[in-house]
Amino acid sequence: MKVSIIGGGGLVGSCTGFALQCGGVVREIAMLDLNANAAAGHALDIMHGSPSVADQRITSGGYEHIPSSDVVCITAGLRRKPDESRLDLINRNTDLFNGILDEVKKAGLKSSAIVLVVSNPVDILTFAAAKKLGLPATQVLGLGTQLDTIRFCSLIAEQLGSAPTQTRALILGEHGDSMVPIWSSATVGALPLEKYPGWNNSLAEKIFTRTKGSGAEVISKKGGAGFAVGIAIRDVIEAIALDRQCILPVSTIQDGACYGIRDVALSVPTIVGRSGALQRIEMDLWPKEVQGLKASASAIKPTLDAVMKRIG
Ligand code: 2OP
Repeated sequence: MKVSIIGGGGLVGSCTGFALQCGGVVREIAMLDLNANAAAGHALDIMHGSPSVADQRITSGGYEHIPSSDVVCITAGLRRKPDESRLDLINRNTDLFNGILDEVKKAGLKSSAIVLVVSNPVDILTFAAAKKLGLPATQVLGLGTQLDTIRFCSLIAEQLGSAPTQTRALILGEHGDSMVPIWSSATVGALPLEKYPGWNNSLAEKIFTRTKGSGAEVISKKGGAGFAVGIAIRDVIEAIALDRQCILPVSTIQDGACYGIRDVALSVPTIVGRSGALQRIEMDLWPKEVQGLKASASAIKPTLDAVMKRIG
């Protein structure tokens, strides 16, 4: 399977290319960027490691890679400042992202191609991509709260000293300030979190607050997140490549099937496989979690309406 990363010359795009190389699942990785030199540099640097990792083709270039791509991952975009929300970014990123969509459409996508949007604000740009690219909405996904979910699990595991790979807790809704912690299904090693030694509810608020602020925390320390974003993207792309049909909190346009939320893109539990978002799962949540999801949809909607009016 071939993956093209638009934004491959930047921090998130290059970390994504490296994460996909280390996963060894996809067959070809193409790094695309306006900064062609940076994209070529990252591709060369990644390729140098291939003899010790996997038999993959690592290339770089422009939109000529799009027609042969099975997955097009769009990470390009300006990064926010530490005190800026992802929704604030929209004015600076809309035109840039809209231009990318036009180029992708002009280059031509396979009818089976999956587009994975990472650029922020990801839920709004996922909606725009689904409307503009002419693919079925199930083939246009946003990274959504998959990154928030693994950050959330990592912070719970750090607090409890539990195995991160056995620490499971979902974040749903907006990849942004209105994201929702789903405590009702949180587990450690299949044990309910609230029964795990050392857990108490006072930890919940502290850990969720830190999760929500993790993007800004990393930006303030090193200018922007890359490694965990690359891993979260790899989770989604390898679920597609392997047709894993696993449940991931990715962002897709909602049609009312989940909690009555419609006409906005946000993250709900979604079965992801080779043909994209196969099914959304309306899992049983606490009433306050459902309210949080609906509040998330309301938080996104005004900016979404303004953007769609602008780019049509
Ligand atoms: C983050 O939360 C880039 O939105 C991404 O770090």
